[in-house]
Amino acid sequence: MKSIRKAIFPVAGLGTRFLPATKAMPKEMLPVVDRPLIQHVVDEAREAGIEHFIFVTGRNKGVIEDHFDRQFELEVTLKERNKIADLNLLSSVLPEAGTASFTRQQSPLGLGHAVWCARELVGNEPFALLLPDVLVQHDPGCLAQMMEAYRSLEDNANIIAVEEVPPERIHQYGVVGIGKSKGPCFAITDMVEKPKREDAPSNLIITGRYILQPEIFAILEKQTGGAGGEIQITDAMIKLAKQQPFYGLKFKGRSFDCGSKVGFLAANVAYALARDDIAPALREEIKALLGK
Ligand code: G1P
Repeated sequence: MKSIRKAIFPVAGLGTRFLPATKAMPKEMLPVVDRPLIQHVVDEAREAGIEHFIFVTGRNKGVIEDHFDRQFELEVTLKERNKIADLNLLSSVLPEAGTASFTRQQSPLGLGHAVWCARELVGNEPFALLLPDVLVQHDPGCLAQMMEAYRSLEDNANIIAVEEVPPERIHQYGVVGIGKSKGPCFAITDMVEKPKREDAPSNLIITGRYILQPEIFAILEKQTGGAGGEIQITDAMIKLAKQQPFYGLKFKGRSFDCGSKVGFLAANVAYALARDDIAPALREEIKALLGK
């Protein structure tokens, strides 16, 4: 059975939209309930069968590396205090030794460039790409749904998660045009990064989960600046779609754009309301805040 073993997590972004919170702390470490954003996305990848986690980091992101390492002092203290549940929680989220790799994007040249920075670590095999700004709340997770669809497609197929958004949000995303359906997927006919509403091929946006063939790296190598002057993965994917089959999957679940303040706060509320230990008390707080 064909499988995807490696996933890239681009975590080099500056997080200017969350200043001053992100002045000294990476935006990927902002917590949604009690797990940092990056942990949610790594867990989604692990649950989808990913075995090797590749982080493209930047300056001031060392704490992400620490998060995926052991913390001996903490472990010793928890053991002394007999906090077994907390200890188990820590070990359940720790990647197995040798399965997390870190490389740096030295200049902020765009998402496409960040992905290209991981080429040596990925090698010549298909890989998943997960943007930690986006959370999808569903079981099975978004990447697991994509993996299942991927197994039914041609060997050299690429697949991206897509969803509908209201017209006023279209310009913030990569937007696709869709053709014939194939099983749960649609052939992608067009892709535009951050188009004006009137130029968008549809209201279906790229949600931040991708399964791509390694041929994308050769294209990225020559890719020049696109929207916002940055090297865009979307522009490279348009070229790849001319060489290889390219599909979109309308996944099940609710997505949260945690790159925006409202999306991030909504994710916190939604994920907390899904927790039996928190939901009842939080519901009361929300009712009181809303005056109902
Ligand atoms: C990136 C991608 C875009 C995608 C979006 C999802 O944009 O370039 O195609 O729709 O993530 O969140 P960014 O949010 O990094 O500007």
